[in-house]
Amino acid sequence: MERLRAGDVRALARAISIVEAGSPGASELLAACRGFSERALRIGVTGPPGAGKSTLVDQMARRLRQQGKTVAVLAVDPTSPYTGGALLGDRIRMQDLAGDEGVYVRSVASRGATGGITRTAADVCAVMEATGSQTVLIETVGVGQDEVEVVQLADVTVVVLVPGMGDEVQSLKAGLMEVADIFVVNKSDAGGAERVEAEIHAMQGLAYEEPGVWMPPVVRTVATTGEGLDALMESVHLCAVEKEQADRQRIGRLVHEGLGLDHLGIAVRSIAAARGFYETLGLRVSHEETIEHEKVKTAMLPLGETRIELLEPTEEESVVGRFLAKRGEGLHHIALHVEGIDEVFNRLKAEGIRLASDEVRVGAGGHRYFFVHPASTGGVLVELVEGMV
Ligand code: CO
Repeated sequence: MERLRAGDVRALARAISIVEAGSPGASELLAACRGFSERALRIGVTGPPGAGKSTLVDQMARRLRQQGKTVAVLAVDPTSPYTGGALLGDRIRMQDLAGDEGVYVRSVASRGATGGITRTAADVCAVMEATGSQTVLIETVGVGQDEVEVVQLADVTVVVLVPGMGDEVQSLKAGLMEVADIFVVNKSDAGGAERVEAEIHAMQGLAYEEPGVWMPPVVRTVATTGEGLDALMESVHLCAVEKEQADRQRIGRLVHEGLGLDHLGIAVRSIAAARGFYETLGLRVSHEETIEHEKVKTAMLPLGETRIELLEPTEEESVVGRFLAKRGEGLHHIALHVEGIDEVFNRLKAEGIRLASDEVRVGAGGHRYFFVHPASTGGVLVELVEGMV
C-alpha cells in the first residue's frame, strides 16, 4: 500500500493483477485502496469499433497531462482473452506518452475475471485512484451490454460516433444514447459530420425535454490531428462540475425531503414479552412477519410517521441473536428512508463507506433495504430503506 500510494508503477501493476485475478489478499487490498483513495474524475469513452476511440483517448490523456493532471487509462475489452492481447495492447498504445510517469495505461479483459467485467473495472479503478491519479479514462472497445455497463462507472461519459454511420445512429442501442453526457463526432474532416450531428439532435429532441437537465453537447473532433480536443475537454469539465452539483443536491435530498425516519429497531428476546409495555402506551402491532433469511421475527408498531420494530431472533446463530448474546436487549438499529436505493448503495460503496450488507435485500413488508456498518455511522447500525411509492 505504501508503494502504491507513492505512485510506484510496479506496485500498481502488481496490485491490479491481484484484484483482477481475485488472488489471496485481493479483498483486503481493495478495502485498503478504497479507504485511502480520493475519487478521481472518471471519464468513460465508448462507441462502435472503428470510431477512433483509442486515438481520442490518447489525445485526451495528452491534454490532461498539459493541465498538470495525472492520468490512468483503463482499456476494457470484454471479449478478448485474458492474457496476451491486453498486455501487448499496453505496449503499442501511447508510445509517445511512454516514459511519462504521470500516465499509466492498463487493459483488462473479462475472460478469467471473477465477478464480471464491470466489477473488475470498478476494482481496477479503485486501485488506480489509490495512487492519487486525478483522472481515470475508461475506454471500451465496442458498444455491447457489458461496455455500456462498464462506462456507467464513469462520472462523464463520452460517446464517439463517426460520419458515414448514417441511419446507424438510430439503430445504436437506446442504452448507449442514454448514458451519453457528450457526443463526439470524430473523423469530422471526412465529410458527413453535419448529418450525424443532425441525427443526434433529432434523437435528443425526443429524449431530453426536461428543463434543467444536462443537454449532451455534440463536439466535432479529428483525433489524429487533435482538432476539437480543447472543446471536448472543456465540455468534459463543464459536465463534471454540473453533475457534481446535481449529485450533491440529490444526496442532500435523500433523507431531508424523503420520508425521514422509517423505524427504530429494538432487539428483544421475546416479542410476546416486550410488546406489553408498548401496548400499554397505546401502540398497536400492525404487522408481524418472519424474515427467513435474517432468521428474525419482527413486529411493527406504528408511531406517528415512524414505527417501532421489535426484533426477535428465531435462531441464536443470526445477526440479532449474536447481538443479544453480546450486548443484551436494546436499540439495534435506526432505519432511514432513501430514494433510489440501488443508487444509494452503489454511491456509499464508492465513497468507501463500510456497509454491513453485501447487497440490497427484501425485508418486512417487501421493503428493500441494506445496512451500514456502525464503524461508518458513529456507532449505530443504520438501515437504509427504500421510500414507499
Ligand atoms: Co429494520
